[in-house]
Amino acid sequence: MAEKIIKAIQYFSYGGGPSALKHVEIPVPVPKKDEVLLRVKATSINPFDWKMQKGMLRPFLPLRFPKVPLSDVAGEVVETGPEVKNLKAGDKVVAMLSIFGSGGGLAEYAVASEKLTVSRPPEVSAADGAGLPVAGLTAHQALTQSAGVKLDASGPRSNILITAASGGVGLYAVQLAKLGNTHVTATCGARNIKLVKSLGADEVLDYKTPDGAALKSPSGQKYDAVIHCASGIPWSTFEPQLSSKGKVIDITPGSDTMWRFLSGKITFSGKRIVPLVLIPKGENLAYLVKLVKEGKLKTVVDSKYPLSKAKDAWAKSIDGHATGKIIVEP
Ligand SMILES: NC(=O)c1ccc[n+]([C@@H]2O[C@H](COP(=O)([O-])OP(=O)(O)OC[C@H]3O[C@@H](n4cnc5c(N)ncnc54)[C@H](OP(=O)(O)O)[C@@H]3O)[C@@H](O)[C@H]2O)c1
Repeated sequence: MAEKIIKAIQYFSYGGGPSALKHVEIPVPVPKKDEVLLRVKATSINPFDWKMQKGMLRPFLPLRFPKVPLSDVAGEVVETGPEVKNLKAGDKVVAMLSIFGSGGGLAEYAVASEKLTVSRPPEVSAADGAGLPVAGLTAHQALTQSAGVKLDASGPRSNILITAASGGVGLYAVQLAKLGNTHVTATCGARNIKLVKSLGADEVLDYKTPDGAALKSPSGQKYDAVIHCASGIPWSTFEPQLSSKGKVIDITPGSDTMWRFLSGKITFSGKRIVPLVLIPKGENLAYLVKLVKEGKLKTVVDSKYPLSKAKDAWAKSIDGHATGKIIVEP
């Protein structure tokens, strides 16, 4: 490849928010033997990215500085390591980059492991693909592994509640849940009710109303599983709305969830709350890309920014009111 120096965004220590993101020129990253070098066409922000910068995950995931943030990318392969078997220069792909390294997606080029890089057909735009990795895989894992929903609709009927259904994870979760044999109740703000319904939710609650805050199904459903994408809702609010063996899958587990989970605390009838940590798998990412290609799953794009406006994109994600995915196009 011709370029040796590329444009990127880095931060150099914990904290500082958007203003700590610096525009830099760095050497093009070099792929290891099982990695590919990608020309990044689009990358998406997850709350995880700025939580890492804040140092919220420091005890489990200490960072190496300087750090180029973002893990979710879509782009084109320009070089392959010697052990890469199934990808070649010119392939269009979606990838989830390592969260442990110092390289990330807010750059013109990035390296990705072959096992978390999947083909992107022409029907899937770079922005739509870049939205998928963390948010789509989390929604997929929560529904299929934690809640036991079969996405070919072959499972028993189940009632699912999805909180913060207008967010990155929630919008994928609503659509994936409706591929299964489910009744879906969702919560979001008033401005997004129409959108969430249009993507398949059977009933939608405005979380700022009393019934919404109480997570009370308008049609009287009790939930077999809650894909909990919001935060700050206590167990005492969930408990009366769960079916006898209902389970809350908490994707932002705080100390209360961890304590309840680790102490094996379940109610007499078996209601419980479990934390979820994403374990990304290439085969599941390929499945999500296929669903987008077939028109069965949509990436809702909140907003798009060029690399020069990455700080604005970062601030927008921290603000917590995105509808769907925030995309940066280097
Ligand atoms: N465990 C894991 O591995 C994992 C993986 C991915 C994500 N996560 C976590 O999951 C959470 C959600 O991620 P995300 O990407 O979906 O976030 P996001 O896109 O930033 O979510 C923003 C959306 O949430 C809505 N919202 C906020 N509070 C709400 C509430 N109480 N009730 C209903 N809607 C609410 C907002 O609506 P309004 O604008 O109307 O307020 C907004 O549309 C984050 O904390 C993230 O760190 C964890």
